[in-house]
Amino acid sequence: MDSDSVDTVELSPDVAQKLFAAALAVQQRAYAPYSKFLVGAALLTSDNRIFSGCNIENASYGLCLCAERSAIAAAVSAGVRSWRAVAVASRGAVTPCGACRQVLSEFGLDYPIFLLDSQLNGQLTQRLTVAELLPGAFRLDSER
Ligand code: THU
Repeated sequence: MDSDSVDTVELSPDVAQKLFAAALAVQQRAYAPYSKFLVGAALLTSDNRIFSGCNIENASYGLCLCAERSAIAAAVSAGVRSWRAVAVASRGAVTPCGACRQVLSEFGLDYPIFLLDSQLNGQLTQRLTVAELLPGAFRLDSER
């Protein structure tokens, strides 16, 4: 599942394996009857708990919820507001959309996002930090 060229140094191999497996498993639960594009996301907490979410589409297309925000909703609803890595599984290992980058940035800029290609047996294709994905993320002045 793991690709040799992508750095997973902040995760032990078994934890990385668990995180990636969770993203790939929840991808299968995506509700995407309109786009047929299934996405799964899994967040890893500092004590190695995993929260996951999938995309949830709607007949009113603008209401579609992305997998990343779905996973964040699961974590925050469980009282978790910090995590040390996120894995996202999709066909072609796409990068998170702009809206999700902004929401990911709310909870840190330095943690890695691992992108997995479900078409290539869950292969890890890229590791990008939130700051790399969204330079200049918006923050309210009052929070600085
Ligand atoms: N999608 C995600 O779940 N995450 C992203 O970062 C990009 C797009 C979903 C939304 C929609 O259900 C489908 O992919 C096609 O856009």
